[in-house]
Amino acid sequence: MACTSKKKFKIAVIPGDGIGPEVIREGVKVVNTACEVININIEWDYFPFGADYYLSTGRLIEEDDLRTLSKYDAIYFGAIGDPRVEPGILEKGIVLTLRFYFDQYINLRPVKLLPGVESPLKGKKSGDINFVIIRENTEDFYVGLGSRVRRGKNERVHQLMRSIYKVKFDIDIETDSEELAYQIGIISKEGAERVVSYSFNYALMSGFEKITFVDKANVLDHMYGLWRAAVNNVAKKFAKAISYEFEFADAISMHLIRAPERYQVITTPNLFGDILSDLGAALMGGLGLAPGANINPNGISMFEPIHGSAPKYKGKQVANPIATIWAGALMLKELGVENGHDLILNAISRVLKEGRVRTYDLGGTSKTYEVGDEIVKKIKEEL
Ligand code: IPM
Ligand code: MN
Repeated sequence: MACTSKKKFKIAVIPGDGIGPEVIREGVKVVNTACEVININIEWDYFPFGADYYLSTGRLIEEDDLRTLSKYDAIYFGAIGDPRVEPGILEKGIVLTLRFYFDQYINLRPVKLLPGVESPLKGKKSGDINFVIIRENTEDFYVGLGSRVRRGKNERVHQLMRSIYKVKFDIDIETDSEELAYQIGIISKEGAERVVSYSFNYALMSGFEKITFVDKANVLDHMYGLWRAAVNNVAKKFAKAISYEFEFADAISMHLIRAPERYQVITTPNLFGDILSDLGAALMGGLGLAPGANINPNGISMFEPIHGSAPKYKGKQVANPIATIWAGALMLKELGVENGHDLILNAISRVLKEGRVRTYDLGGTSKTYEVGDEIVKKIKEEL
């Protein structure tokens, strides 16, 4: 899953907009501290992609930028989004471009309530909420195949390039509606089987015993035969070791609130994964804590908090950096530096458990950098 451990890594950093630079700064600080302790060297190179860069140059991320980023071992990403830019431009032009170009087909989002953090669910303790969302990250309604057409006859051609397949839709549309819009969601056999295989392997390696596959097979055709067949097919290889079940997206949204302890690994197509992972973030104490990893098991992966850029808090040092710091820990794990990951996560847990240094979202008054400093201190104490 992860590449072999080595002494030196080159990481591309994209701090982005809003609170992105502040939280990334703490992430780099903490990852550097952990790596000093275990004698690993990281070289960080910074890239300016985001709203300011777009507004001043007209550039999002272009082909030559992507080729430059290909030379790195991983990408560490803050957040993008800015009120001066129309919604969708930066999301599609930066985040999704990176995920798709590097074929990061796994979006791994741990949902773990750490000791000392209060869940909004009454009476839930840290062991009760501990599961991982594995979100398919390259297909479904995210592929950008959609359009808006007016009354009459229309023609649209939609093409999609993936490293594992190519697809072209030639669509004739005849409508007497004044105007309509549509979106094509895709699930390919190759795309489904690889996320399902990854999920079973992940469950095996992480000591989980059950996977819940989430879909809406009772309504959406692209999640009916093919998705479930891919699950059943791949599951044969893992018979006995890991059990699995199917659940509808609406039902699991209820059960995650009523009985989160039921879940261990949740694997789901892209859009439901997006929605359920914000729900998961709330369960574990808020977006300020929730990390994400966009993984290509054989390529370049990208690590980010799942929260956005929160422009109104920019530069105020009030954002919680823990989601980003935790994402940095996931980056080390994926690079094969498991002990670096554990060092950071233990330090985060200790800081949260003590409860003395915490940001506003967790009821404290500490600054973003103070949380970073405290985690650094805890890592050094481990020596
Ligand atoms: C996320 C975000 C992104 C998504 C946006 C910024 C494209 O919401 O990482 O969950 O929808 O995947
Ligand atoms: Mn999201």
